[in-house]
Amino acid sequence: MCSLMSMKAETNVQTQPQAIQIRNLLIDPPLLLAPMAGLTHSALRRIMIGFGGVGLLSTEMLSAKRLPTENPRISPYLIRTETESPLSYQLLTSTDKEIGRAIDALHAMKADAVDLNMGCPSRSVSKFGAGGMLMERPDEARSIVTEARKRTALPLTAKIRLGSDADSGKLKTFCTMLEGEGVDMLTVHARFKHEPFARNPRWAYIAEIKECIKIPVIANGGVFSVEDAEKCLRVSVADGLMLGRGAVIRPWLFAEIARTVFGRDIPERVVSLPDVYAGFFEALNADYRPVYRLGRLKEFTHYFARNYKFGHSLATRVQSSSSMDEARERAGTFFANNSKESIAATGAKVSDNESIG
Ligand SMILES: Cc1cc2nc3c(=O)[nH]c(=O)nc-3n(C[C@H](O)[C@H](O)[C@H](O)COP(=O)(O)O)c2cc1C
Repeated sequence: MCSLMSMKAETNVQTQPQAIQIRNLLIDPPLLLAPMAGLTHSALRRIMIGFGGVGLLSTEMLSAKRLPTENPRISPYLIRTETESPLSYQLLTSTDKEIGRAIDALHAMKADAVDLNMGCPSRSVSKFGAGGMLMERPDEARSIVTEARKRTALPLTAKIRLGSDADSGKLKTFCTMLEGEGVDMLTVHARFKHEPFARNPRWAYIAEIKECIKIPVIANGGVFSVEDAEKCLRVSVADGLMLGRGAVIRPWLFAEIARTVFGRDIPERVVSLPDVYAGFFEALNADYRPVYRLGRLKEFTHYFARNYKFGHSLATRVQSSSSMDEARERAGTFFANNSKESIAATGAKVSDNESIG
């Protein structure tokens, strides 16, 4: 592995990276939304856009095989409003055979960037040789990137974890290969393949990767507050940050980081938690077919509830609801009983207290 980094970056506006240009895409500020299955869809993206500060939005992972047959006007994975821009689409595949048709479909959907999932460690993905397994199948990974690069002039990005073990030579070789085959930007979720989310992210590894490649590198994992963002940038020396769960819990976190860390002129707003929740609920009801609503409300509530001291009660009540109406009524009762906490404590620290893989 390349020698350890010079930890030069300071946590202030002057020395932070300010924007990233990859091909025709300007990512400004360099704050990206993470792809998250069941969470990163249109209803949530709209809320984030409303608060501001997001440089690049994302879909959740999309099966390259199924994508060409999905109807983008009604698929819950693909519904998109005009405000959701720029938007990167993440593809999941284990073979170069599926990439061409999937990218054609993304062109038709006016994707702003194409991301390749090379990090997902879940068993259901691994058994097909996709996601994080591609780091262990570098020849296949190379063919996928080569094929994708041939098929699109859009910005092409990849998202990885640190690999299956601390073999830094393997990690470096993999990242160098991605760059050599034409990947324009790399996101690194700073955990090894089998490490749970409860484990502290290893941001310093990102600095090592950065020394080896020239394309922009985005740091991901464990950023839940402005302080985390500053620390992650300082330790990783990354060109930008990708936020996942922290931005689901607090969709205004992008705006806070953009304002505080990157000096963006985004006015501070009073955040009413019941209003944010209602906005998400309305978007689901307005644009998603009934069968796709309740599951997504439950997923979101699992995270959003953490804004409340007794949020587990909100999450449990919504989790056990059997209809959107029931969930709305239960959430409404919770909000009424916890009205003293209705206004979000901006700048508050919420914790990374779960261990999903
Ligand atoms: C519910 C959930 C679903 C996820 N789905 C995806 C996915 O579709 N594609 C992907 O590359 N990563 C996925 N991830 C990983 C996130 O993109 C991100 O790397 C991880 O959550 C760490 O970032 P965070 O600490 O900011 O949440 C998922 C994570 C969660 C919690």
